[in-house]
Amino acid sequence: MKNLVCVAGAGTMGNGIAHVFAQSGWRALIVDQSDAALSKALATINANMDRQVKKGALTEDAKAEAIARVTTSTSLDCASEACLLVEAIFEDEAAKKALFARADEVVNADAVFASNTSSISITRLASATKRPDRFIGMHFMNPVPVMKLVEVIRGHATSDATCARVMEISRELGKDPVEVNDYPGFVSNRVLMPMINEAAFCLMEGVATREAIDTVMKLGMAHPMGPLQLADFIGLDVCVNILHVLHEGLGDPKYRACPLLRKMVAAGHLGKKSGRGFYDYA
Ligand code: CAA
Repeated sequence: MKNLVCVAGAGTMGNGIAHVFAQSGWRALIVDQSDAALSKALATINANMDRQVKKGALTEDAKAEAIARVTTSTSLDCASEACLLVEAIFEDEAAKKALFARADEVVNADAVFASNTSSISITRLASATKRPDRFIGMHFMNPVPVMKLVEVIRGHATSDATCARVMEISRELGKDPVEVNDYPGFVSNRVLMPMINEAAFCLMEGVATREAIDTVMKLGMAHPMGPLQLADFIGLDVCVNILHVLHEGLGDPKYRACPLLRKMVAAGHLGKKSGRGFYDYA
């Protein structure tokens, strides 16, 4: 069905993706295994739209209409008529492949499948389906309603028509899509993660304090957040996983994860989500 997107995964990225689609006039069906996660996603979308209303970026009526376009389900079967599926579950290749294989059976054959993965190979994920030509990466950035970029990643078999359609859809969402090819970490994380890793090395080696490192990058390079604060925001476990993907996929020791980062993950200091990372979160 035209303008029905199924967003698989109700976490931070999934609810942000459903938010921007619904705000742009699409009907958005969020699918997750857990009812609690679905309720939380709806509450988050509501709260984030309220921020936009307060700022005058969205009217109350437009908000109500957008919210009415969001539905939820614990079953992918409800997604049969979607014309686009955007997968945003946790970063586990086997779980993503299982989801896509199942979706391939129930979602109409013409629909485009997109993954919001931050570093898993689009070509490998596409191989779990019979539609690798209609399979692509749509990598949104957190917070999705705010960040302008969609990194559009072409797998080995992605067709020109699929890529053109997804670029067009991204623009309709008010985003600025950028097309890249399927290599480890794509462009975003191939450039971002070595910067975060180097910041962790600077801290570990005593080059400067955490505040000094972040301030250098904020004031000197006009980054909205310093690299250590950003690492906390992304999740240190996510950063280490992506560095492993770069290290394994490109075989260059320059991508080895900083021992301090690995030690913090082992200690459960994962950043904002665990209450403690490079900084403390009350
Ligand atoms: N939904 C809607 N609006 C939101 C929002 C959300 N979830 N979060 C923030 N906003 C809005 C605020 O309402 C505010 O709006 P106005 O500009 O209209 O006032 C604006 O965003 C800025 O928010 P705040 O004033 O609360 O805070 P801030 O100025 O410190 O900005 C930030 C917060 C946007 C997160 C900013 O610090 C930032 O851009 N940080 C860097 C984010 C970044 O690098 N993201 C990419 C991470 S990497 C990734 O996602 C992919 C990966 O693969 C790892």
